[in-house]
Amino acid sequence: MEARAWSKEPDGPLQAPLPDAIIRDGEVGGADPRSESLADVQATWEHLGAADPLWAILSAPEKQYNQWKLDEFMATGGPTIEALLRLLDELGLTVNRARALDFGCGVGRLSQPLAEQFERVAGVDISDSMIRFARRVNRHGDRVLYHHNPAPDLHLFADNAFDLVFSNITLQHVPPRISLRYIAEFVRVVKPDGVVVFQLPSHIESPRARLRHSMETRAPGLLRLYRTVRRRTTNPSPYSMYAVPWRRVEAHIRRSGGLVVKRERDFLAPPWVGFRYFIRKDGTAR
Ligand SMILES: C[S@@+](CC[C@H](N)C(=O)[O-])C[C@H]1O[C@@H](n2cnc3c(N)ncnc32)[C@H](O)[C@@H]1O
Repeated sequence: MEARAWSKEPDGPLQAPLPDAIIRDGEVGGADPRSESLADVQATWEHLGAADPLWAILSAPEKQYNQWKLDEFMATGGPTIEALLRLLDELGLTVNRARALDFGCGVGRLSQPLAEQFERVAGVDISDSMIRFARRVNRHGDRVLYHHNPAPDLHLFADNAFDLVFSNITLQHVPPRISLRYIAEFVRVVKPDGVVVFQLPSHIESPRARLRHSMETRAPGLLRLYRTVRRRTTNPSPYSMYAVPWRRVEAHIRRSGGLVVKRERDFLAPPWVGFRYFIRKDGTAR
């Protein structure tokens, strides 16, 4: 999907940035982003990890109800990691291949190919069912350790522990007040010469979604009616999606002692404009 012509991202002025927003059932949602707790997030992913883990991670409609073949699913991870490492090299962000963290690792789709490139990999997930699955299909013995972490932080890791901290299609499921806390933790646990890479939706691009957002604030009754009709005709998405405006993310990274080396557009959560952030520890920060 190409960026729409009228979108001025990434360098031009933004459309009016939205406040942190939530999409439920694939729409800009009505829930207050501050109302979902981390325990709610955990319960959702615990259930998904037990019921349909691979589809919950890569949600192609034809793969629902356990239609993914494990090998085919796991094979999607290698190219992602290879492309990531190539890009880091191109950006002059080459990292030592010693320790990598895969935050929101799911069943290890990306932790496994990371282990082909790094000596040790830690996979972290809020869902114990995902972690148990990941351990079952681990091909790298104790070079990959999977951790169940229901906490709103990464206290299980020391400062300066990782050469690469990577998080893919995960923070978008976490309420912003908590995802921002994890981002600060990424900066804490990365080594001074390491790199943090994560992705997060920022704001709405689709005119239809923007219309829905404005209905949400101006005509919530009409929006509820629309949703009721739509729910009867479509298959709702089982998890929440959140966006945090990129300016807020960057300000938070700076406050956390990180330096944004690059922010690039990604297309992982349409209709949202999302970004991948490349961060180093800011050696000059106190
Ligand atoms: C869409 S899946 C992505 C999995 C993996 N990153 C990949 O690309 O294959 C999102 C994962 O994030 C996990 N997750 C959600 N909230 C989390 C949190 N607060 N801490 C750690 N993991 C979380 C879910 O359990 C799920 O396994």
